[in-house]
Amino acid sequence: KNIALVAGGFTGESVVSLNSAKTVEKHLNKSKYNVYNIILERDRWYYNDVNNEIVLIDKNDFSLTLNGEKIKFDCAFIIIHGIPGEDGKLQGYFDMIGLPYTSCDSTSSALTMNKGYTKQVVAAIEQLHVAKSVQLFSLASYAQDRIIEKLKLPVFVKPNNGGSSIGMSKVSDWADLDVAVEKAFNEGSEVLIEEFISGREFTVGVYRVEGETRVLPITEVITTKEFFDYEAKYVPGLTNEVTPAQLDEHIVERVEEIVKQAYIQLNCKGMVRIDFILDKLHHDFYFIEVNTIPGQSENSIIPQQVRAAGLTLEYFYGALVEEAIR
Ligand code: DAL
Ligand code: MG
Repeated sequence: KNIALVAGGFTGESVVSLNSAKTVEKHLNKSKYNVYNIILERDRWYYNDVNNEIVLIDKNDFSLTLNGEKIKFDCAFIIIHGIPGEDGKLQGYFDMIGLPYTSCDSTSSALTMNKGYTKQVVAAIEQLHVAKSVQLFSLASYAQDRIIEKLKLPVFVKPNNGGSSIGMSKVSDWADLDVAVEKAFNEGSEVLIEEFISGREFTVGVYRVEGETRVLPITEVITTKEFFDYEAKYVPGLTNEVTPAQLDEHIVERVEEIVKQAYIQLNCKGMVRIDFILDKLHHDFYFIEVNTIPGQSENSIIPQQVRAAGLTLEYFYGALVEEAIR
């Protein structure tokens, strides 16, 4: 089968995407799949062939012509974090041309890319709490007084449609809020300001293969930095990621039940990673966000969890492809 491994993208996370693609490429079974690395940039979509020559994709049917032979794909393995691979745009296009893909559909991707809207859906799930927040739709409509009235310090300020903590700040003094809001607006057109929840931070992969929704072992994220920012995420040694997390068995079972609910309510497909906090005071679960194209660098959290589950990445990625074309 011909698999288009679609990486790159239009945001600062494109670097992360190329690393993720390397891992997926390495572990997709080559005796079953012909894997083609496709890169999407804003002004060109292309395949980088063995001679390092660039072959443009035909956008009419997402096909490729190599040595006069037209290659069409059986499945797209989307590994673009952020726009246009995690926000539903690519999914909508693939739906239009009839190409199956490994991720959530366009509606679910568009919803979950929007952290503020996702929280409104998730808030309806029993046992899953959300931190108080304010969603800003333009810098012009931002008024510091209104935020101070509504939220308590400290707060997180983040692009509402971003990833990898790019453009994100933790604010512990209202005097720093304006700068943080401006920084977040530099990365996107909407901003989310959220109350900080004190507690332990966890993240867990949920995926559907063989028609069944499954949960990977949970990871606890313990960072030496002020929060799990871009550096903490990608510079080795700054964060201790404990997989499987040390949690009582009954808590693990509760988490599994709750994240499956979230996966179903958000109508997810393929693999996603759900981030949450177990708060210090009441031991309630606070949803942070769902990542529908979670990072797959060799040391990323999902590959860690797959190994901790006793599975191989070859099985895992292969099963996602098979589920997509089933
Ligand atoms: N946004 C990054 C890639 C992640 O969620 O892993
Ligand atoms: Mg994220």
